Amino acid sequence: MRSVTVLESLALFIATTSAANVVEIGINRIRPGQPGLPNTLRSRANSPSTYIETLVNNVTGGGYYASVDVGTPPQPQVLVIDTGSSDVWVVASDADLCTSSLLQRKYGDTCSDTYDSSKSSTYELVSSEGFDISYLDGTGSSGDYITDTFAIGGASIKALQIGYATQTVRGTGIMGISYSASESTLDTYPNLIDQFVQQDLISTKAYSLYLNDFRSDSGSILFGGVDTDKFIGNLSTMPIVQTQSSNGTSGYTVLAVALNSMTANPGSGENNSPVSLGGQPLPAILDSGTTLSYLPSSVASSLFNAIGAYTDDLVTGYTFIDCDGPSDLTVTLSLGKGATIVLPTSQIVLDVFAGMQSQIPSNVPFSNACLFGFQDIGSASSSSLSAIAAAQIAATSGSSFALLGDTFLRSTYAVYDLTNNEIGLAQSNLNSSTSNIVELKASDNGIPTLTGVKAQQTTSASSTTGSGSSGGSSTSGGSGDSDGTVTVTASPKSNVAAGVVSGPSYGVLAAAGAACLASFLGGALVMA
Ligand SMILES: *[C@@H]1O[C@H](CO)[C@@H](O)[C@H](O)[C@H]1NC(C)=O
Ligand SMILES: *[C@@H]1O[C@H](CO)[C@@H](O)[C@H](O)[C@H]1NC(C)=O
Ligand SMILES: *[C@@H]1O[C@H](CO)[C@@H](O)[C@H](O)[C@H]1NC(C)=O
Ligand SMILES: *[C@@H]1O[C@H](CO)[C@@H](O)[C@H](O)[C@H]1NC(C)=O
Repeated sequence: MRSVTVLESLALFIATTSAANVVEIGINRIRPGQPGLPNTLRSRANSPSTYIETLVNNVTGGGYYASVDVGTPPQPQVLVIDTGSSDVWVVASDADLCTSSLLQRKYGDTCSDTYDSSKSSTYELVSSEGFDISYLDGTGSSGDYITDTFAIGGASIKALQIGYATQTVRGTGIMGISYSASESTLDTYPNLIDQFVQQDLISTKAYSLYLNDFRSDSGSILFGGVDTDKFIGNLSTMPIVQTQSSNGTSGYTVLAVALNSMTANPGSGENNSPVSLGGQPLPAILDSGTTLSYLPSSVASSLFNAIGAYTDDLVTGYTFIDCDGPSDLTVTLSLGKGATIVLPTSQIVLDVFAGMQSQIPSNVPFSNACLFGFQDIGSASSSSLSAIAAAQIAATSGSSFALLGDTFLRSTYAVYDLTNNEIGLAQSNLNSSTSNIVELKASDNGIPTLTGVKAQQTTSASSTTGSGSSGGSSTSGGSGDSDGTVTVTASPKSNVAAGVVSGPSYGVLAAAGAACLASFLGGALVMA
């Protein structure tokens, strides 16, 4: 990026670049009650757990989203950022959901920003009815594949292939940024991250994701660069785990790394106890489109025992934890060759039932119950799991893996390099208010050795770089620097709603992607 515009929209703004060839955008959470909030894709009507399930879906039903412009003249859209899928798709202005109050009631969602291809001079049809993404519950979004101009973070991509959803169960589109091999079509095309490089906006297919504190409203995604002020210690680089298709071919289809060990500490001066992973590393999918994190049943029960979490098998299927328990409880994960990520109480003990404790089933042994940030993958309702995960479950009953969603990613600074098939991870420096952006270059041949700050910064988030307001009170200030880039800061949202987390699974996958996914390659897990 050589020039960055300051854009103010309902909740979004374009943030900073201080290096050439990087594109950074602020991302925000969708909150319940906000237009366009996707609610559950599936509800167990008439089940006694419906209330809690609706509540959990309400509070987890948001997502981290980015503001983009599609078409000429630009039509603003808000899209959920999803490392678990690979297509960008927008909601057509005349989509069935947008025009039918019956469907809006059925799916608990309405349309927010929509796109009208007839109003864009740069729109082209690629394939009529060619776009079809399936959700796990058998519903989905479908329509045409089109191309149009796509502007994000001050960068403008020409003729990006986009799904144009005319039938949809969600009123908000998705920005999938995983491998093009997992697109929902057999005719693989250069997707957003491919086009960023093909159109010379960044030099290698890599981006960094900073979701930030659970109690903060916003984070950022940086295409083509790493911000070393946003993490603590060394960035640890590890290979992406390959998947093997049913015909035996292996390849890179999913953003997954090896989880080598895990410990849990219940707090109050107790020691760490090991969580059993079953004797071997576990492939762990990093999925920003999934709110909570999920573990295979045996691993989950080992963790829940160690930490004092309770699974309500009778009514809701959810795992709860005591809100009034020790505040120094932690879960620690070791990934790849040496990334150690500590998840503190504030990020995994989720106080989302405030004022609703009377609705918690009476068998749950806490008078003040919180939702735990990890859940058993076996008891997960399909709507809360990414389709990639579900495809894994379906394709390989024997294979086990972890799905690390936002409850893991918020504590993590993650650099995804889809050119060199590597991921770099470090402990996130929450609420970082400064930036030091290092451009990632094709000539690096991988993620360079980078060191972040020495320790978690202690200042509050009053002027978080890359943050924005989702409450309509956005204040974006710009400050130019010598090479014409602009640093934008915005005040965090002033009203509370600290319990709101980001959304379940918009990881979507249709036939083509699913066919590629059979099992994780054991060999890729062997650490050098
Ligand atoms: C979930 O959100 C919907 C729409 O905002 C609301 O009508 C419903 O009462 C909420 N349910 C719970 C359990 O909070
Ligand atoms: C980050 O900022 C939020 C307020 O936006 C605050 O609640 C939280 O405690 C801060 N986190 C840290 C680690 O300082
Ligand atoms: C971080 O990397 C530097 C240089 O590669 C190394 O000297 C140092 O020991 C590393 N620190 C940690 C905590 O691993
Ligand atoms: C195996 O399957 C993959 C994914 O479906 C496909 O791309 C590849 O061409 C197939 N290879 C062979 C040899 O059939």
